[in-house]
Amino acid sequence: MPIIAPSLLAADFSNLRQEMSAVVEAPWLHLDVMDGHFVPNISFGMPVIKALRPHSQAKFDVHLMIDPVDPYLEATAKAGADHITVHVEGNAHLHRTLQTIHALGCKAGVAICPATPPEALSEVMDMVDIILVMTVNPGFGGQKFLHGQLAKIRTLAEMIRRSGRDITLGVDGGIDETTTPLVTEAGATMLVAGSAIFGKGDRKAAIEGMRAVARPARRA
Ligand code: DX5
Ligand code: ZN
Repeated sequence: MPIIAPSLLAADFSNLRQEMSAVVEAPWLHLDVMDGHFVPNISFGMPVIKALRPHSQAKFDVHLMIDPVDPYLEATAKAGADHITVHVEGNAHLHRTLQTIHALGCKAGVAICPATPPEALSEVMDMVDIILVMTVNPGFGGQKFLHGQLAKIRTLAEMIRRSGRDITLGVDGGIDETTTPLVTEAGATMLVAGSAIFGKGDRKAAIEGMRAVARPARRA
């Protein structure tokens, strides 16, 4: 059964505390931090995450779409992140970044954009805890799923198997009841979903609906 991580980006920003309580059955909450530089949009930052932290039991899965990222890792951990995911793109010292995240006591994630090949992660397979395949170009919710990314999910699932490590393989962007069977069959074990959950009146039913259509991974 895949982990469902509702993305708060699609929630009602005037009502975040209540929005979190509408998705209590999800074990992770995905929090997208955007800087208007690494991605062409600005969302929310660490003060908002810190304010939400006491009101949720979920693992805070923070996706940093900011450049530079290193100066903000400590603040992200202090705000209450359990997982910190950074992008492989534009980070000349990804290895050091992942070391820092671990030193801060968090799980370390690496997100990979549609144009980046899976091999970009080959040298960090021994230290990454979460791989996040972007199935849209990051920056906005509600975009169309990029089917071309399914091959990358399969390749990364195989790389994870070969590593022998317990690495979560997440997907982010355009995940809904139509794309869930495709990505889970390709090997995804964690599904980030914004509009497919917060865009629905009944969020609990939306989460259950996605779980119901997940498929077992099929090896390539
Ligand atoms: C996009 C973000 C996503 C976003 C996904 O850059 O990283 O987490 O919230 O939104 P949906 O699920 O609506 O595509
Ligand atoms: Zn995200």
